[in-house]
Amino acid sequence: MKKIFSGVQPTGTITLGNYIGAFRQFITLQDGYNCIFCIVDQHAITVAQDPRELSKHIRSLAALYLAVGIDPEKSTLFIQSEVPAHAQAGWIMQCVSYIGELERMTQFKDKSDGKDAVSAALLTYPPLMAADILLYQTDIVPVGDDQKQHVELTRDLAERFNKRYGEVLTIPEIQLPKSGARIKSLQDPLKKMSKSDPNLKATIRILDTPKEIEKKIKSSVTDSEGIVAYDPENKPGVSNLLTIEAALNNVSIESLVQKYEGKGYGDFKASVAQVINDHFAPIQARYEQLLHSTELDDILDRGAKKANTHAQQTLFKMEAAMGLGRRR
Ligand code: TYM
Repeated sequence: MKKIFSGVQPTGTITLGNYIGAFRQFITLQDGYNCIFCIVDQHAITVAQDPRELSKHIRSLAALYLAVGIDPEKSTLFIQSEVPAHAQAGWIMQCVSYIGELERMTQFKDKSDGKDAVSAALLTYPPLMAADILLYQTDIVPVGDDQKQHVELTRDLAERFNKRYGEVLTIPEIQLPKSGARIKSLQDPLKKMSKSDPNLKATIRILDTPKEIEKKIKSSVTDSEGIVAYDPENKPGVSNLLTIEAALNNVSIESLVQKYEGKGYGDFKASVAQVINDHFAPIQARYEQLLHSTELDDILDRGAKKANTHAQQTLFKMEAAMGLGRRR
């Protein structure tokens, strides 16, 4: 069976963007593939985190993975820092990376722009992400569009490693969702919807109440034309809302444009908010049950054990190929 690996940072409650770009792909993939999903807490600390908040977010994200439909009988779910091979292989991948290619990463440029003090780890984050993927000999990486450049770098690093040290690593393919690979901010539809946006109205979170979701959609930025049409360049706000409904309900944008013909933005927004709430209600109910359950710890313990076994095997192969230690 082909292998899937993906990860999500525990830096805040996941957003509608994470849900559409990543989680929905995970759920459909787990039936046909050997899936490994990770809570990438070591990535989260590339920017300073409050320790208590971070540990709360880790647990919350684990419960959310399960609440959206990750089935621990089919998929492996684990926390990155509980599998030491990630940091070890991350170092190896740093050693095959060039500073120039890391400085060219758009996310590094965005996150470091205008800051006086930027952690070295913000720059070396992509080699750690490459290690995450390569340790499991991953075939496919389902992610949203903002991670495309990092997966391309992972492929380059794996090819470079194999060329220098022999064929050890599988070269992974990226998989983007058919629609909704880049859900936009509700307040500035030219930017992506982000967990860390300081404008609270810009981002819908999976644990928002129905009222909050209605309010956020109602106050989302559109235009003054009053016609529901898909035109990302000239009508980015309306197009973003259409993309959200199309992705959630698995319908075409054209069929939605027809559905909203002759309707104003008020009706359109109320209907989009309803669609989101219909999706989130059952997830929120399951989340509450899972969060404080011992089942959650059992699943994470089993996941860490399985992940450790797989990851160690690849790490040993990498180390042996490079001549590290006494492994041959
Ligand atoms: P993170 O935690 O920022 O996002 C998790 C997933 O959600 C997707 N995503 C979006 N998709 C559509 N529209 C959006 N507005 C949107 N915002 C986020 C992301 O593309 C991602 O798939 N570096 C990664 C985590 C990571 C990882 C990995 C992913 C670490 N190691 C190995 C895959 C494989 C990140 O920060 O994702």
